[in-house]
Amino acid sequence: MPRYSKTLIILHWAMALLILAAWFTAEGGRQVRLNPPLLHFSLGLSVLLLVVPRLIARWWGSHPRIEDPQSPWLNVAAKIGHAVLYGFMIGLPLTGWYAASRLGVPVSFFGLPVPAIAASVQGAPGPIAELHEVGGTVILVLAGLHAVIALWHQFVLRDGTMARMNPV
Ligand code: HEM
Ligand code: HEM
Repeated sequence: MPRYSKTLIILHWAMALLILAAWFTAEGGRQVRLNPPLLHFSLGLSVLLLVVPRLIARWWGSHPRIEDPQSPWLNVAAKIGHAVLYGFMIGLPLTGWYAASRLGVPVSFFGLPVPAIAASVQGAPGPIAELHEVGGTVILVLAGLHAVIALWHQFVLRDGTMARMNPV
């Protein structure tokens, strides 16, 4: 069974855990100004940091071809699904960073200060911040769907899909 490279497998599972942890540490609206969720910021920025080596490993390293024998359209759908997940892994931390900047909250990465990327405002942080709040949950729904499809392949179609991402 062809597998993703060790680097991609480690990054896949580490980032899945980071995204889940970022979701659990998230706070909304007023609470963020009163008591900034610094762990949420750090976990989310780790996702942004790690997506760079992940994309490099994906483009320049070896990774198995997606060859679903059921239909060529399913291959295209799988590729689009993975690309959408990458889009969220980049867009979500960036919109979160923007939201924190608009709220005027100092952002840091495990204690290291990070500059603001937008001017702060007194009132509501705006539509991009709202997009971040909704997107933060949408990525989990998409990842859940992605996991169900992977488990369907593994246990119903029995084509060994999980082995492609098996870290051991
Ligand atoms: C937030 C959580 C997750 C994200 C963002 C995510 C993202 C991705 C992405 C982008 C790929 C394409 C390969 C790559 O470039 O690394 C992938 C592949 C894969 N993922 Fe996930 N994933 C998540 C969680 C899960 C979970 C919970 C499972 C299993 C229960 C899972 C199982 C797999 C498998 C088996 C593959 C290989 C599919 C193939 O190409 O044949 N993933 N994932
Ligand atoms: C994968 C990464 C991330 C995920 C899954 C995520 C998820 C979420 C979720 C679900 C919320 C809504 C919480 C609620 O309404 O109770 C939220 C809010 C927020 N997040 Fe994130 N986030 C991520 C990255 C980041 C980063 C990197 C930053 C900042 C550097 C950040 C800053 C914020 C801020 C400021 C809010 C409040 C926005 C507002 O009140 O308008 N997030 N996040």
